[in-house]
Order: sequence, then C-alpha cells, then structure tokens
Amino acid sequence: RRTRSADHYAVAMSRTSLEILPGQRTEVLTYNGSFPGPTIRARSGRTAVVRQMNLLDMPTSVHLHGANNPVESDGGMMDTIAPGRSKTYVYANRQPGATLWTHDHAHHMESEHVYRGLSGLYLLGDEEEDALGLPSGRYEVPLVLRDAHFDASGAMVYTMDDAENRTTILVNGRPWPYMKVEGRKYRFRMLNSSNLRIFILALSDGSQVTQIGADGGLLPAPAPTPVLVLSPGERADFVIDFSRYAPGTQLELANMLGPGPADLVGRIMRFDVGERTPDDSRVPDVLTTLPALPKPTVERTFELQMDEPGSGGHQAYINGRTFDANRIDTEIKWGTTEVWTVTNASVTVPHNFHTHLVQFRILERDGQPVYPAEAGLKDTVLLFPGQTVKLQMTFDTHRGVYPYHCHMIDHSAMGMMAQMKIV
Ligand code: C2O
Ligand code: CU
Ligand code: CU
Repeated sequence: RRTRSADHYAVAMSRTSLEILPGQRTEVLTYNGSFPGPTIRARSGRTAVVRQMNLLDMPTSVHLHGANNPVESDGGMMDTIAPGRSKTYVYANRQPGATLWTHDHAHHMESEHVYRGLSGLYLLGDEEEDALGLPSGRYEVPLVLRDAHFDASGAMVYTMDDAENRTTILVNGRPWPYMKVEGRKYRFRMLNSSNLRIFILALSDGSQVTQIGADGGLLPAPAPTPVLVLSPGERADFVIDFSRYAPGTQLELANMLGPGPADLVGRIMRFDVGERTPDDSRVPDVLTTLPALPKPTVERTFELQMDEPGSGGHQAYINGRTFDANRIDTEIKWGTTEVWTVTNASVTVPHNFHTHLVQFRILERDGQPVYPAEAGLKDTVLLFPGQTVKLQMTFDTHRGVYPYHCHMIDHSAMGMMAQMKIV
C-alpha cells in the first residue's frame, strides 16, 4: 500500500440550525455542520493539511490549541479568513500524542464565535501510546463540555461576561445526556470548551477516576483522583472502570462548583452501567517519560488583573496593560528555557493562563509541588484569585509573534492577552 505523505481534511464553516434542546431549533456556527465541530484524528509525526472554507458572513481564524505550529498555521487573531475565502493550515504534528482542539481566534470575535460553536477536538495519536493497550475504538470517548445561555425560544444568547446565565450544560452538544456503558474500562478524552465556566467534576459514588493525561499528552504515571478540575481550554484524559459496578447502576458525573442553581449546573451527565463484557485493555503503571527539564536562564513575572465586578470598569490586563495587536510585550531569544511566574491578582475572579506555541511544565503552585494530574505537559493552567504558579518552557521551535492570554475568553476579549516575539 502506498503511504500518502500527508492526511488531508476539508472543513466548511457555516451557520446551521439544529435541535439542541428537545423540540427547539437553535442557530449555531459550525465546522462541517456539526456542533461541536467534528473530531479530527491525526498522527504524531505525520502532516495534516486542513483546508478551512469560511462560508460565514464574518472573518474567522482557526487556531489549533496546544499545537506547535509556525505562525502562518497558528490561526493568529489578525490572520483571518475573509467571508467566502478559504485558508489551508499545515500541521506538522511534531509533538507527542495529545488531546488538542481547534477553535476560532478572530480578534474581538473569538469569544462569541467559540461560544456559538466554532470549536472541535483534534486528537493526536502516536505509536508509544498505541503500545500501551489503553481502552480504544468505541471505548475511547470524546467528551466536550461547555455551558450556554438559551432564551425561551431556544436561541443561544451571547452577552459578554455572562457566566450566571449560562446554566445549561452541554456534553458533545447535548444537554445533560446519559451514556450506556458496558461493565469494562473506558477512556474519556475531555475538553472544557466553555468561555468562562470552571468544572470540578466528581462521580456521584465518590469513587476515583484514573487520570492518564492532560493538555499536552500522557502523564508519566496514572493519577487516581476523586475530582477532575478543568478550566476553559484545559483537557483531561481519564479512565473509568465500570466493571466495579453492578449492572443497572446509574452513575452521575457531577459538577461541584457553582455559580448557578445546583440542580442545573451541578449535573453534567449520567452513565448507565450494563453487563460486564470482556476487556483486555490496560492502564500500565508507566505511561510516558517526560523530557528532562533544561536549566532556565530567563525569569519573568506576569500579573493577571481585571476590573472587579461592580467597579464600573470592564477591562482586563496582563502586567497592567490591555491587549494591543501592535505591541510586542515579551521578546524571547530563540533556544532559551524560561521560568514564568504568573499571579492572579484579582480578588474575586479566577483566571487561567494559556500560551500558544509551547507546552509548559508547572513547577509549583503557591510554592507547593503540583498535583500528579498537573505533572505532564500543559498549555493552560488555572489560577484561583491570589494564586501564583511557576511555569517552565523552552522556545526552540518556531520564531515569530504568538499570543498568550487568559483562556476564559470573555476576559481575553476584554484585554487579558499579550504577545511574545521569539527572535
Ligand atoms: Cu485556545 Cu489563543 O487559544
Ligand atoms: Cu492556543
Ligand atoms: Cu481571566
């Protein structure tokens, strides 16, 4: 069999009306008519060529979140696709297998575009991962979580910074679904694609799930955890063994964090456990080996801040400045390893911090070692008010200008975004 040199995908963005809430039509923005977008499966080390056709009436830009790409394929905020035009993104996939996602990044429109549906998973597989024997095929299930605000007619309402009213939780575009599972192990690839909502998820029987991966790939070792913490943009790869439940068990996956009426935003989805079935999948004790941490030579500090609710202001800042597309905030010498100390200086508002181009390692949180679930490669990190994290990353791939920002994207649209230039 001839091997083609690259995998090709064609995607069209369009406005579509579909049934999300029972009996109602909702207009959404889609990739290939699907809400959320279709899951693209790519292979580490193999180029994926994705042709994006913009059939919408506004400019768009497609960012592959978590990937290491040259500027021209990063989907920059100013590098937009005009209505009726298309753009071909080339992804070399030179990174380990990971749960990545594509989403809109058109400047000042990304938060509404993502909210209305322009986002989808991009699952990068690799050989090392295949050899582990993790649950696969129909036992490997993507779960894209988000919230939304619907009005009485079923229309999705977008208002900036409107977390309280986004009380409908969608999983793969469905409100509060249930899933029939066999009594065996399943692997879940979870993404929080919400604009603002942080999920702290737990199973209703209080038992642990086994987290095996985060943003940038597998963890060094499986991390059993009673909760999965996912701020907007973060991913969790985890295994649940349903063979430990009696057939007929109904297990809720619940959100432990408001705000909002707990009966609405507290419920996420339900697993209905069926008969035991044969299962030769495994979760080995060693999943991957992370590259050694080179010695950092540059240290920087970043402070995230936002006008406090009720203050009348509606801007957000990194190191005291709101975003300016014509300003370079951080100049980085190619090849350096840096430590970034990031502090959430807000009094009441959580933020998170996302870098394009690089995956980082979280060295510490408030001076403490991080949880095992945060021990892998990360590109987005949650900071509750007052928290500080230390991140380490190496800039030894592409040069050029890339953004970093809060991924509670209503906040980045309010200015909590800045640019680094690797020279
Ligand atoms: Cu997922 Cu600049 O973002
Ligand atoms: Cu990104
Ligand atoms: Cu924020």
